[in-house]
This record gives sequence, structure tokens and C-alpha cells, in this order.
Amino acid sequence: MRMDQMLFSSVLCFILLSTARAYDPLDPNGNITIKWDVMSWTADGYVAVVTMTNFQMYRHIMSPGWSLGWVWAKKEVIWTMVGAETTNQGDCSKFKANLPYCCMKNPTVIDLLPGVPYNQQIANCCKGGVVSSWGSDPSAAVSSFQLSVGLSGTSNKTVKLPKNFTLSGPGKGYTCSQAKIVPPSVFLTPDGRRRTQALMTWNVTCTYSQMLASQNPKCCVSLSSFYNSTVVPCPACSCGCQNKNTCVPSGQIQSVLGKNRTASMATFDNPLVQCTSHMCPIRLHWHVKTNYNLYWRVKMTITNFNVGVNYTQWTLVVQHPNLNNVTEVFSFSYKPLVPYRSTNDTGMFYGLKFFNDQLMEAGPFGNVQSELLLQKDAYTFTLNQGWAFPRKVYFNGDECMMPPPDTYPYLPSSSLRNSVPAMAVATTVLLSLWTLKRIV
Ligand SMILES: *[C@@H]1O[C@H](CO)[C@@H](O)[C@H](O)[C@H]1NC(C)=O
Ligand SMILES: *[C@@H]1O[C@H](CO)[C@@H](O)[C@H](O)[C@H]1NC(C)=O
Ligand SMILES: *[C@@H]1O[C@H](CO)[C@@H](O)[C@H](O)[C@H]1NC(C)=O
Ligand SMILES: *[C@@H]1O[C@H](CO)[C@@H](O)[C@H](O)[C@H]1NC(C)=O
Ligand SMILES: *[C@@H]1O[C@H](CO)[C@@H](O)[C@H](O)[C@H]1NC(C)=O
Ligand SMILES: *[C@@H]1O[C@H](CO)[C@@H](O)[C@H](O)[C@H]1NC(C)=O
Ligand SMILES: *[C@@H]1O[C@H](CO)[C@@H](O)[C@H](O)[C@H]1NC(C)=O
Ligand SMILES: *[C@@H]1O[C@H](CO)[C@@H](O)[C@H](O)[C@H]1NC(C)=O
Ligand SMILES: *[C@@H]1O[C@H](CO)[C@@H](O)[C@H](O)[C@H]1NC(C)=O
Repeated sequence: MRMDQMLFSSVLCFILLSTARAYDPLDPNGNITIKWDVMSWTADGYVAVVTMTNFQMYRHIMSPGWSLGWVWAKKEVIWTMVGAETTNQGDCSKFKANLPYCCMKNPTVIDLLPGVPYNQQIANCCKGGVVSSWGSDPSAAVSSFQLSVGLSGTSNKTVKLPKNFTLSGPGKGYTCSQAKIVPPSVFLTPDGRRRTQALMTWNVTCTYSQMLASQNPKCCVSLSSFYNSTVVPCPACSCGCQNKNTCVPSGQIQSVLGKNRTASMATFDNPLVQCTSHMCPIRLHWHVKTNYNLYWRVKMTITNFNVGVNYTQWTLVVQHPNLNNVTEVFSFSYKPLVPYRSTNDTGMFYGLKFFNDQLMEAGPFGNVQSELLLQKDAYTFTLNQGWAFPRKVYFNGDECMMPPPDTYPYLPSSSLRNSVPAMAVATTVLLSLWTLKRIV
């Protein structure tokens, strides 16, 4: 009883702590920064360029893209917008002649789709709201639009900053700071010979929390090895089984996609998945394939069970102590992530452009594969006690559910059974974490 209570309160403590700190230990500086640069003052307001930069190493904004909201401080209106649009015009009936573009007190802005006419575009716009992660492609980690604001202040003394920013990226998970006035941005002319600067700049920073994004994990991990024929599946209901009665049996995917493609595209926060015991949209399978003298080899397979969703620009993050000695990665790109200088045990994998950077919807083509060659570190390498399996896995920035450590395949003649109780405790803590989170 006492023990239970202790366990419970320590788990609770952990949850509260990790919720309060909305950051990710593998990407402690990750955020999306939204910068407003006032480029000119107008008769009744200003023209600003809004730039969203995704500084997160491995969390991108996938289709259907971002939407950004805020609340005007006064009675501002938007006269024009280039490179994005508001989802509603709102009530502009107060205006007689010139109708504003948007009169909402709390406008919601979305990106334009690729291929809009040139006169509606500005640099870094019109990508359907899709923004790369900083780690996979910094040049595509930016999204911009321009707006002309009226009925606002017309100088840096009278302008009031918009409030209560919200960012959907897509779906829930981001929390945004208040806008803060920062030193004005400096721009270089294209020939690099002249510097200009914004009249006024303010920044908003948005950070992601998986706890806010979803109650359940969105992916899971299964394991196998050459030295033991057991395949350890994803834990049952890894991603919650509440959609069990709406899932699609694997034999019916093609017909569901064929007949009713638009209807089958469930919402981003509530995907339609293929029926499996884990009910996850994504599974990583980690297979310890070969043990050489100086190297060992792992095969990774990511499988998409999401019906009607192609994951473009997917990312996979793995934490394993031997990632400091990656020798070769086949058919994926690889980049070490070193958030703390002392440890080099984490890296991100992502697809090769035009080859496998798109993980196709559930079905026969819904997977991507890679092999990984690691140089053994003589002092730490072992096949015992599940050492060869990853410690943590993230897909598209969300942590995946791992099987409990005491089920990992082990070496046939293992004499290390005595370490199992410690692992069982760890499993209990892990499981109660997810369970508790479902209750909270
Ligand atoms: C946002 O991310 C950038 C780049 O990692 C970092 O320099 C900046 O300090 C972060 N901002 C906040 C408020 O965390
Ligand atoms: C406003 O502009 C004046 C010069 O035009 C400048 O001295 C002042 O620092 C600016 N204030 C802010 C908050 O940017
Ligand atoms: C902005 O958010 C704060 C805190 O969530 C809330 O108290 C306030 O009413 C909101 N302001 C507007 C104008 O919606
Ligand atoms: C404001 O955001 C930009 C990124 O768009 C960043 O370069 C700059 O450092 C930020 N300023 C502050 C004071 O955080
Ligand atoms: C398509 O989906 C909609 C909404 O889920 C449903 O009402 C309709 O019956 C479906 N049509 C077919 C042909 O399955
Ligand atoms: C996924 O990609 C394939 C091939 O590019 C395409 O045929 C299919 O329509 C896409 N599915 C969705 C839901 O966009
Ligand atoms: C981390 O390990 C990789 C090999 O996996 C190596 O290329 C990289 O230089 C290492 N980085 C640091 C900071 O040690
Ligand atoms: C890689 O492994 C070799 C052999 O164990 C070791 O000497 C070397 O320090 C390791 N490299 C890194 C970056 O840790
Ligand atoms: C393989 O590992 C499993 C644990 O997942 C264990 O139950 C089984 O006995 C092992 N097989 C052999 C041949 O040791």
C-alpha cells in the first residue's frame, strides 16, 4: 500500500514536472518563433511581414499545415493580406465604401496553397502550411505572409501588440508566449551592399508539448533480433483503443480509400487507422540483424497504418548509446543531435528527397526501410539485457510507446536473469505513466 502510494506520487510528480516544462529533453531549444516586422506605417496603421521559423530539430509542420490565431488589442482590421488568408472575413458592416479584408477580433490565418497567382505570393509563402524541421531542411523551415493593418496605432508609441497567439501545427500541442518587442530586424539587399531595418519588431515563441497534443502516444515500437526468434510486438492498445470500432480491417483499406477517400480522411487529431492490436498510426520495427567482429547491423522499418494519410518529410529520432559510432546509414539521411555536449547518443533519420521522404498511406506501399551499421564500442557493446534496442524513439516529434523491457528478446544462454526485477519495476512505472496520463 505504502509502496504503491510512493510510486504513485513519484509518477505524479514526474508528470507534473514534465508538463510544466513544455520542452523536450532531446531538443531543449526547440520552438517556433513568429516574428512581426513592421515595414511601413500607413495612414491608419501599418504593413507588417510575419515570419514563422521552425527552430525545432525534428518536429515539422505536416499537411494540412499550420493555422495561426491571435486577438487584436483594439479594434484593428486587416485591409489586405498577401501569401496567406484568414479563414473568415467577419462582420465588416460598420464600413461603407472600402470593405476591409477581415474584421474579426480574433482572426485565424492559414497559408495559401502552392500555385496561387504570383501577385498573391511573397517569399516563403504558399506551401499549404507545410514547414520543414530545422534539422532536416533549415531553408524550408520558414513560412511568411504580409498584412496591412488598419485602425491601429501608426507609430511605435501608439501601436498595440496583438494578444493571445494560438498555433495549430496541425492539431493541438503548441502554447505561445505573449508578443514581446525585440530589436528591429535587419535585412540585407539581394546584392548584399545595403542594410535596411524594420521600423519595429515583435516576437512570439511557441513551444510544443506532447501532453497537450494527445492523451495517447501516436506511435509504437516492436523489436526482434537474430539471436532469438521471438518478435516482441507493440504493447496492446499502445495508442489507446477507443477507436477500435471505427478502425479499418486491412483487407478493406483499398476499398475504403477507393470509394470514400475524402470521407475517410479523419481529422488530424482523430485519425482513421488500420485495425491492429496496438491501434497506432505508426510503428517502428527495430531488428538487430547481424553481429560482426567490429560492427553490428540494425534494420529499421517504419510502417504507416494511417488510412489516407501520406507522411511527407517524416522524421524519426532514436536514442541509443552506440549512435556515437554510426558508420553507415543506408537509404535514410542521418544527422546526430547533440543537445548536450557531453552525450552523443541521439540522432534523427529522415527520408531522401524524391526517394522515400514520403511515407505512403496504409497499404502495400505504406512503409520505409533502412539499415544502420554501427561500430562496436569495445567497452559497452553487448547483446545482453536488451542493450541493442533503442532507449527512446520519436516519430515526427512524438515519443513512441516501447514494449516493457522485461519482454525484450534475450540471449538464449543468458545468465543475467537476476536483473529482471529491476526492469519489471521500470516497466510498471512506464505503464502507469501512460495509464495515469489517460486519467489526468
Ligand atoms: C527559440 O529557439 C531558438 C533557436 O534554437 C533559440 O535561440 C531561442 O532562444 C528560443 N527562444 C526561446 C524563447 O526559447
Ligand atoms: C520608436 O522609434 C524611435 C525613433 O523613431 C526610437 O528612438 C525608439 O527607440 C522606438 N521605440 C521602440 C519601442 O521601438
Ligand atoms: C487572453 O488570454 C487570457 C489568459 O488565457 C485571458 O484571460 C484573456 O481573457 C484573453 N484575452 C482575450 C482578449 O481573449
Ligand atoms: C526574434 O525572432 C527571430 C527569428 O525569427 C530571431 O532571429 C531573433 O533572435 C528573435 N529575437 C529575440 C530577442 O528573441
Ligand atoms: C462516405 O462517408 C460518409 C461519412 O463518413 C458516409 O456518410 C457515407 O455513407 C460514405 N459513403 C460510402 C459510399 O461509403
Ligand atoms: C498519397 O500519395 C499517393 C502517391 O503520391 C497519392 O496517389 C495519394 O492520393 C496520396 N494520398 C493522400 C491522402 O494524399
Ligand atoms: C557524434 O557521433 C557521430 C557518429 O555517429 C559523429 O559523426 C559526430 O561527430 C559525433 N558528434 C560529437 C559532437 O561527438
Ligand atoms: C567509436 O568506437 C571506437 C571503438 O570502440 C572508439 O575508440 C571511439 O572513441 C568511438 N567513437 C566515438 C565518437 O565515440
Ligand atoms: C527469447 O526471448 C524471450 C523474451 O522475449 C524469452 O522468453 C525466450 O526464452 C528467448 N528464447 C530463447 C531461445 O532463449
